[in-house]
Amino acid sequence: MTLRHDSVRPVTIVGTGMYVPDRVLSNADFERLVDTSDEWIRERTGIRERRIAAPDQASSDLALIASQRALACARIAPSDIDHIVVATTTPDRILPSCACTLQMKLGASGAAAYDIFAACTGFVFGLALGRSLIGSRAADTVLVVGVETLSRIVDYTDRNTCVLFGDGAGAVVLRPCADGEGILAIDIRSDGDLGEVLEVPAGISRNPASAATVAAREHTIRMQGKKLFPFAVRTMEESTRRCLERVGIGAEDLDFVVSHQANLRIIDAVRERLGLPADKVPVNIDRYGNTSSASIPITLDELVRAGRLKPGHHVGMCAFGGGATWGASLVRWTMARQGGKSDAGARDGRLAASHPTS
Ligand code: ACO
Repeated sequence: MTLRHDSVRPVTIVGTGMYVPDRVLSNADFERLVDTSDEWIRERTGIRERRIAAPDQASSDLALIASQRALACARIAPSDIDHIVVATTTPDRILPSCACTLQMKLGASGAAAYDIFAACTGFVFGLALGRSLIGSRAADTVLVVGVETLSRIVDYTDRNTCVLFGDGAGAVVLRPCADGEGILAIDIRSDGDLGEVLEVPAGISRNPASAATVAAREHTIRMQGKKLFPFAVRTMEESTRRCLERVGIGAEDLDFVVSHQANLRIIDAVRERLGLPADKVPVNIDRYGNTSSASIPITLDELVRAGRLKPGHHVGMCAFGGGATWGASLVRWTMARQGGKSDAGARDGRLAASHPTS
């Protein structure tokens, strides 16, 4: 079978890494905060627990550990990175960017570093950007990070949103590869008309921070979850199918689909529409909740560490999020099996302790 691709210079993922904070917030903890139940959260979302950053951990601290793991996996030094692209809705601060803070902590002084804002689809947008940079020969090595500390912008009095989100980071290293390998197609899209479906109403130029915005909790996430649900299912399926069509393979040829982890019922609906069995669509929302732009690279790294991804596998990735944004990518996997310590260490914090956070 001849696979088509639409890139100038082929680009692949040569390293993956993830990090989640140690602190676990369980559904039982939420029963003490708002009028909810473990049963409701599990049945309606699939979430059992999520990770919450320590008070002294900002997004760049989470991103640092995930990035160091991805670079170690790729056997690439920070000094070799040309661009650092951080996809996040929760940078440490608006100035400087999370990427510049990460660059400083990594010691990647030769890199151009900047953030992109595409909510939960941010990692797929970052992948598209990194692929274009390498494909056009503007860069050889790009670090793409998805990181969130959503716990900092969640209203813990709003049961409609507070149970859904968690903190975490995932990273990949991109490099050129042989023709017909690596990232074969990417489809990214947006619809600004849907902006109000998921928003943080105050804080920057439209509604600057004031005592009134703080009192009204306008620095936290507001979401119309019911409207997002069908939109998420439709757009993730459509984008995945567009990628399949461009490459010239069918959904049945996919070995895995790494879906954004927003709701187990959304993941299952997309999987069923694509006609895929459950073992081809990994799920970790039960352990991490919705980590927005971090959820795809976290899930990808877990697949890599478990030794489930093999060279030649066709891997789809799809996401949707605020903006609205959505997209998918299709990768012909090139990385050989990696050592399995990073994932286990990330889960119980052992490796986290051995990596400095600043
Ligand atoms: N505990 C108990 N009851 C709750 C809770 C809760 N935590 N949250 C909502 N409810 C109640 C509602 O108030 C409502 O009660 P009512 O009928 O008396 O008004 C009832 O449960 C049903 O609410 P629905 O909104 O119909 O519940 P639904 O089954 O749609 O699930 C959910 C809600 C989980 C938010 C779902 O709609 C969803 O996942 N939507 C997608 C949201 C999403 O993915 N957002 C992330 C976007 S990505 C990004 O960029 C961050």
